[in-house]
Amino acid sequence: MDIAPNTPLIDRLGRTHTSLRVSVTDRCNIRCFYCMPLENVRFKPRDELLTFEEMTRVVRVAARHGINKLRLTGGEPLVRSNLSQLIRMLKQVPGIAEIALTTNGILLPDQAADLKSAGLDRLNVSLDALSEAMFERITRRQGVQKVLAGIAAAQAAGFDNVRLNAVAIQNLTEGEIVPLANFARENDLHLRFIEFMPLDADRAWDKSQVLSGRQLREIIARDVAPLNEVKRDDQSQPAVDYQYADGVQRVGFISSVTQPFCGTCNRLRITAEGQLRNCLFGTEEWDARRIVRNAGTDADLSELLHSCVQAKKPSHGMDSPEFVPPERAMYQIGG
Ligand code: 5AD
Ligand code: SF4
Repeated sequence: MDIAPNTPLIDRLGRTHTSLRVSVTDRCNIRCFYCMPLENVRFKPRDELLTFEEMTRVVRVAARHGINKLRLTGGEPLVRSNLSQLIRMLKQVPGIAEIALTTNGILLPDQAADLKSAGLDRLNVSLDALSEAMFERITRRQGVQKVLAGIAAAQAAGFDNVRLNAVAIQNLTEGEIVPLANFARENDLHLRFIEFMPLDADRAWDKSQVLSGRQLREIIARDVAPLNEVKRDDQSQPAVDYQYADGVQRVGFISSVTQPFCGTCNRLRITAEGQLRNCLFGTEEWDARRIVRNAGTDADLSELLHSCVQAKKPSHGMDSPEFVPPERAMYQIGG
């Protein structure tokens, strides 16, 4: 296959890929049960991770094919040393219009100002519970106060429109929903709830633990404030947003399980060890590291990106009886 220099990444269903999620590490400073095992986590040795130069090279080639938005993920991206340096390098890549980051927020008090001056455009902070007890049950670590300090530090550093992501779990986090919604409204944060997906390392996921976007919306409309749906301007956005009727903030619902949005997916992923993936739930990977470490050419990377996109399935197929969760857990893929 010979790929023309600027060919966009369009798959067999006509989906154009413009967004790349770059995992920078599989390590994390907490242990959310829906993502990581509690013990015996097998992290990749450092030399298996792409260097910043290698990541930037893959991004440069991807940008030639229309990738314009990057999201840095992990594991926890802020545990990778010198992350701001990577952001500075990626900012220089022609065609990259936006760089966002998803973090658990714990290290933001130390790093927010640096990230801002490096040119990071957007921040999403993951926070599922405001009560220390529930935070600890989910993450198996303490730290909610650090996350709150991290959010404040990000806002003080000049990040506006900070988003809060909350995974909601049936029979567990119901008591956190209203406090989180109020907290977000009081602190000028755009909160989005995410349905619990089968990406836990312990393979304990069960559909009965999914608190659906619809259930969450009903709770919020009843106990916080009435909601009006906001017309979507970007169809590839997985969240369906609602405006509170009193005009104070919005709240969104990412219903990956009950209302999949695969039909408008525009994302590719690359793991910290340089494996391209076309879906969170994919079972195949395309080895970009082999190319960058074995004197492969940019044309080889172009071809790899296109092969990965061409193999993309119509949907994650979670409802099919043949569905098998991916072998890798969330922290090994990148959220
Ligand atoms: N289901 C839903 N969301 C998850 N995340 C991690 N694992 C799961 C899962 N099994 C979320 C994190 C974070 C983002 C990176 O992905 O909470 O917001
Ligand atoms: Fe760490 Fe994020 Fe996984 Fe929680 S979800 S263990 S914060 S990587």
